[in-house]
Amino acid sequence: MGNEIKWNELPFGYHKTDYNVRCHYKDGKWGEIEVSNSETLTMHMASTCLHYGQECFEGLKAYRGQDGKIRVFRIEENAKRLQSSADYVMMQAPPVELFIEAVKKVIKLNEKFVPPYESGATLYIRPVLLGVGPILGVHPAPEYIFCVFCSPVGAYFKTGFKPTKVMIERHYDRAAPLGTGHIKVGGNYAAGMRSGIEAAQKGYSTAIFLDSKEKKYIDECGPANFFGIKNDTYITPQSNSILPSITNKSVTALAEDMGLKVERRHIPVEELATFEEVGECGTAAVISPVGQIDDPDNGVSYTYGDPNVAGPWSTKLYNRLRAIQYGDYEDKFGWVTIVD
Ligand code: PLP
Ligand code: COI
Repeated sequence: MGNEIKWNELPFGYHKTDYNVRCHYKDGKWGEIEVSNSETLTMHMASTCLHYGQECFEGLKAYRGQDGKIRVFRIEENAKRLQSSADYVMMQAPPVELFIEAVKKVIKLNEKFVPPYESGATLYIRPVLLGVGPILGVHPAPEYIFCVFCSPVGAYFKTGFKPTKVMIERHYDRAAPLGTGHIKVGGNYAAGMRSGIEAAQKGYSTAIFLDSKEKKYIDECGPANFFGIKNDTYITPQSNSILPSITNKSVTALAEDMGLKVERRHIPVEELATFEEVGECGTAAVISPVGQIDDPDNGVSYTYGDPNVAGPWSTKLYNRLRAIQYGDYEDKFGWVTIVD
């Protein structure tokens, strides 16, 4: 039962809820949204999602405000990003309206799992699109399943809003320069898993990937986008192989609104020595400050401010972002949708 959950002890992990929703694409059209209480999907064993990675997904959160209302953040952006991911791997994507309806429905059906205000937990929503049907050659699937499930979650990093240590990855690439790094497909996460696990075994919260061509520039920061702040400027990588983070896009707008200059450009590794604050941002990571970056292969280490306390700009940006998501601050950009 939802009301027995210890909200403030929740990890970032799967927690069973009551319902999920599914929708099937068949014979050239999307069917009705079906509600299910089963945690399994049935599909043909020759489905393209299983063999050829023809799948993509999204991640967004629902927040319960002080007023008891449930809000979702920039849902339309997730719908559009699923479409661009699907398009790249030759899949049929649900229309934006269908995506929004399915996400809202899953939240409403699992309302009791939306954590209380100030519990530190949120409801994470995971829309998944899968290519299904009997296919052996490398071709797009004839049918698709769009499934949306959710799970109440705690902070992605156990330490919460506290600086973590990350390392620079020089042994593996997450994505190729003209590959799939800019879309949200499972293959990117499989490619990055070894590096993430090895970084964790060495005591790091995650690994920073460099551009896979020259190994000169900062690319993706584990499951999030990287940012650095110096001289009143918010700087974030320009790269074809990072996911266009909706959180980063929002934080960039907030940074500008709060008086920072913004630069989206290549960030050479050596520039890490010059930042006053560094962090990563994403739906799961929110804004996670980084206190130290090690480059073990070069024996170099970069540190930022107090290792136990987030820097002043990261804190201000985090507080403003959260305030908007929870309905505590004016939503002047029109980012929030109330689910009623
Ligand atoms: N980069 C990667 C690889 C991610 O998995 C995510 C999470 O979705 C992000 C960046 C952040 O994107 P967003 O802010 O849209 O969640
Ligand atoms: C998200 O932030 O929503 C993500 O998808 C990261 C995830 C892989 C945990």
